[in-house]
Amino acid sequence: MSELGFELVCLDCETAFSGLEPRYRCDCGGTLDVKHDLKAVAEAVDRDVFDRRRGNGGPLDRSGVWRYRELILPVEARHVVSRGEGNTQLYDSPAVAKYAGLDRLLLKHEGENPTGSFKDRGMTVGTAAARMLGMDRVACASTGNTSASMASYASIAGMRAFVFIPEGNIALGKLSQALAYGARTLQLAGDFDAAMRLVEQVCATESIYLLNSVNPFRIEGQKAIGFELLQDLGWRVPDWIVLPGGNLGNNSAISKGLVELHEIGWIDRLPRIAVIQAGGANPLYTAFTTGRPIEPVRAETIATAIRIGNPVSWKKSLRGIEASNGVVEEVSDQEILDAKAHVDAAGIGAEPASCATVAGLRKLVANGTIDPGSTVCGILTGHLLKDPDVVVGYHSGSLSGIDSRFANAPLRVPDDLDAILAELRRI
Ligand code: F0G
Repeated sequence: MSELGFELVCLDCETAFSGLEPRYRCDCGGTLDVKHDLKAVAEAVDRDVFDRRRGNGGPLDRSGVWRYRELILPVEARHVVSRGEGNTQLYDSPAVAKYAGLDRLLLKHEGENPTGSFKDRGMTVGTAAARMLGMDRVACASTGNTSASMASYASIAGMRAFVFIPEGNIALGKLSQALAYGARTLQLAGDFDAAMRLVEQVCATESIYLLNSVNPFRIEGQKAIGFELLQDLGWRVPDWIVLPGGNLGNNSAISKGLVELHEIGWIDRLPRIAVIQAGGANPLYTAFTTGRPIEPVRAETIATAIRIGNPVSWKKSLRGIEASNGVVEEVSDQEILDAKAHVDAAGIGAEPASCATVAGLRKLVANGTIDPGSTVCGILTGHLLKDPDVVVGYHSGSLSGIDSRFANAPLRVPDDLDAILAELRRI
């Protein structure tokens, strides 16, 4: 173990690299894990320390990522760019629970992060790593949220940001953010998978730091979703954590963090993880159900955030699912948008990919995998306003191939008091 207190270890061949270097993969091509000295962590801090930090306003403690810093990345405060990430609500929603067929459902809304998605938790750590390495240019390929987040954090850190996005397949709110925060935005003709391949090549030849979730420090930050969720629950372990899967960094991260908590002995069991994929972008579902390695697909789904056919972190993802006795489910675009209509109408709201969580839950309860009485936490990954086109399209019935069963269409009325009153009495 390096004196930094962590090292990078290859998932495939277990070669170890010493802590900080601008490296995302092993020489064999395998992805890398940050391996902490968990014994040293357990000697330095405990759950009570994390609980005390939560209530204090210190610049690092206020962040729902850096509060857990010993388990994330030991770093000098001067390297940290924080927007107070995390600290997201855990909603107890009877309406959405009923839709999913559960007695009770808790929804952790990661869309309440500063740039509107869970990516900020990983990005604050990725940006700190970039600073520690002395990098002043960063890049990512993105279906939108990673680029929005990176653009914001890079701008605050004074770094130049380059985002690679699939033209025409990124939601308006996300594209707006990348442009507004000042990232140089390259629109590629290909899909996310092509953009991902190219940005890895660009970062390997230029001195640009890659901030996709293939970067192991991004994963470390996203572990904090699970830490904060457990803290929300007074460290009582739920039966299930359910979330959408695209490039598969997020579920890998949450599982990794929970396994570490279990190893340290701060929790006595692991929650089961359920990863939900869109049916048109389901390589993990196929690998899980057939037991074969991942086979890339050409992805298509209305949930553009998870329109990914060749996920980078599939091995880490399967490792976490296996460790927690988890499952993978797939849902159609219709199921995603029906679930979204319920999440939105419950007053909570989330972007389409997030609502795969609830669509998947409904399916897993219906097929008997999840018991209706179990403790279930769903993760909503992005804000409702990320994708306004899908919302308006759904409610006005103009999305092709989608039956807007739960539409709340706008009503056209003349500028006339009697007509308005008549309409109000009718609705
Ligand atoms: N939900 C939302 C809202 C996302 O933006 C993403 C991924 C996911 C779920 C899936 O998470 O990739 O870790 O499995 N968005 C990435 C991006 C790919 O570029 O913003 P994952």
